[in-house]
Amino acid sequence: MGERDGTLVGRVAVVTGAGRGIGAAVARALAREGARVVVNDVGAALDGTGVDAGPADAVAAEIRAAGGEAVAHYGSVADHEDARRLIETAVSHFGGLDVLVNVAGILRDRMIMNLEPEDWRAVLAVHLDGTYNTTHFAARYWREHRGGRYRLINFTSSSGLFGAPGQPNYAAAKMGIVGFTYSCARALARYGVTANAVAPSADTRMIDSIPAERRRSVPGPDRSPEHVATLVAYLAGPRSGWLNGRVMGARGPEYTLYSNPEPVRVLRGREPWDVQDLGEELHQTFGPAVDGSPLFAPPPGEMDGGQ
Ligand SMILES: NC(=O)c1ccc[n+]([C@@H]2O[C@H](COP(=O)([O-])OP(=O)(O)OC[C@H]3O[C@@H](n4cnc5c(N)ncnc54)[C@H](O)[C@@H]3O)[C@@H](O)[C@H]2O)c1
Repeated sequence: MGERDGTLVGRVAVVTGAGRGIGAAVARALAREGARVVVNDVGAALDGTGVDAGPADAVAAEIRAAGGEAVAHYGSVADHEDARRLIETAVSHFGGLDVLVNVAGILRDRMIMNLEPEDWRAVLAVHLDGTYNTTHFAARYWREHRGGRYRLINFTSSSGLFGAPGQPNYAAAKMGIVGFTYSCARALARYGVTANAVAPSADTRMIDSIPAERRRSVPGPDRSPEHVATLVAYLAGPRSGWLNGRVMGARGPEYTLYSNPEPVRVLRGREPWDVQDLGEELHQTFGPAVDGSPLFAPPPGEMDGGQ
């Protein structure tokens, strides 16, 4: 633990997807700061198939070997009952739950034309159902034991925030997690819970799966998951309560606060609009606000509103 006391001494954390990548770095960082950690990982391949107790076991053993406290859990977050048992493991093993970090994730990238229902559902099941499943049981515990400084930390992605064209399932799940986080931030504050989302960028097997030509070039060499874990370790602590309902980016030693959605233009009428009049007014009033967005440029020749 070094020369200072850890910032998370006395706290209990559940980290999902903690057998590899960012989740493993988060579990290690929380334990280094003194938290007792439930290391959850089903041990799946990148596409969500298969199970393996090895990754969760290895991370839990590594934490214990370094003098920390950890227990492994191999359930799937996509399974409601597994999620119940996961939260119960924290309570029965370590006497409570202060922090839930929902990291578990898979990828099945396809363009929308080629995306089959199975690949749509599998990705939503792990990311969106998984985040709901664990949070549902954690929130029940927190409501029953209200008054702590509880922390819910969910994982979203720039793929959702900016709309990655080859990841419609993943983008939908990750933006669903943002809405879910906003809802929890408002619903659970009364029980002492803050809820925030992190959009990471780190070198893991997930990033390795993206063809090199599609990866956005990133200045600076260090995209270690440890930097993401440092932000999560702060958010997990008792001093981060001023942050609630926020989305933050983490890429290398650089952190970003994203804006929450807010209206940028309003067009008010006094009576029902005629379709053509409305179109002209919308183009005039909203046009300057959408003009020049490089991400969501309209199809060629459409920017002038049909004039
Ligand atoms: N790596 C990045 O740059 C990046 C970018 C944006 C978002 N993310 C998000 O960060 C999170 C971690 O990603 P990563 O890069 O570390 O991926 P990773 O593949 O290295 O690790 C994900 C872990 O989740 C586990 N997992 C999968 N399905 C599970 C389930 N049903 N139950 C429990 N565990 C399960 C896997 O076994 C794996 O160990 C994911 O939510 C991902 O979407 C990562």
